Amino acid sequence: MAAATATNAAKTAKKILMVRPTYFDVKYSINPWMDPRNPVNVDKAHDQWATLKKTIEAAGAVVEVMEPNGADQYPDMVFSANAAVLRNNKAYLANFFYPERKGEQFFYNKWFKENGYETYLSHEIAFEGAGDALWAGKNQSKLFCGVGPRTDVRALYEIADKLRSDEPFKIFGLRLVDPRFYHIDTCLCPLNADIALWYKYAFDHVAQFNLRNEIDLIPVSEKDASRFACNAVVVDQTVILNEGAEETARNLERVGYKPVFVQMSEFIKSGGSAKCCTLALNE
Ligand code: ARG
Repeated sequence: MAAATATNAAKTAKKILMVRPTYFDVKYSINPWMDPRNPVNVDKAHDQWATLKKTIEAAGAVVEVMEPNGADQYPDMVFSANAAVLRNNKAYLANFFYPERKGEQFFYNKWFKENGYETYLSHEIAFEGAGDALWAGKNQSKLFCGVGPRTDVRALYEIADKLRSDEPFKIFGLRLVDPRFYHIDTCLCPLNADIALWYKYAFDHVAQFNLRNEIDLIPVSEKDASRFACNAVVVDQTVILNEGAEETARNLERVGYKPVFVQMSEFIKSGGSAKCCTLALNE
């Protein structure tokens, strides 16, 4: 008993960065979910964000909140997943594809520098952070990157170079083909080193083939994928996802995970859900 307690205490909690939705809104359309004529209920969005944060904390993670001070021009900044891809204390920052989000890089760069990260960035090559880069494999030996809608394949060479460390890792470029699933974190969700949820039709045939060789995949139906079931926050055995993906919840239980539903309707109006609002700081 004492030994078990000591082990638990020694295990470092997962740390997650969230950006407060102070200026969150849908003011432009850069993906098929966004329609500025379909207004965001701002109060509801703030409640949903606060509930997501509490749910993540209840699952055992520590949430750091970044205040978007001065970023009133950037209504999408709440999607912290897009900030950067991280490895140890290095951050390779997003260079957003659409002009509407390009200015976010400045604020993220500042935050990462102030928080002890070495930062790298490009002003030329499009890349959208952990929204398009998911770690998996033993000791984060694999990085699955979405390529096409938001991320340029040339960014993958840069990431390999800048995030290089003593622990080697391989990067996989996976082409995304369905405009509704324009970031890889909308159609793939690694649960641990060896298993992931996926909506396979979001990937081209070559990517489907290559991914199957690298990780065990649990299929997500189109119905659940459209409810952003793949955009889930994993904290140990808890998987936090938008409500309504019943089939995916059952499949998660079958492999020993505990699904927890949250309401993300206001963020889905912007084409994002639970995982988009988070960035794992110490995977
Ligand atoms: N409105 C945002 C965009 O289109 C949503 C970003 C969702 N983020 C994500 N990691 N999938 O850029």
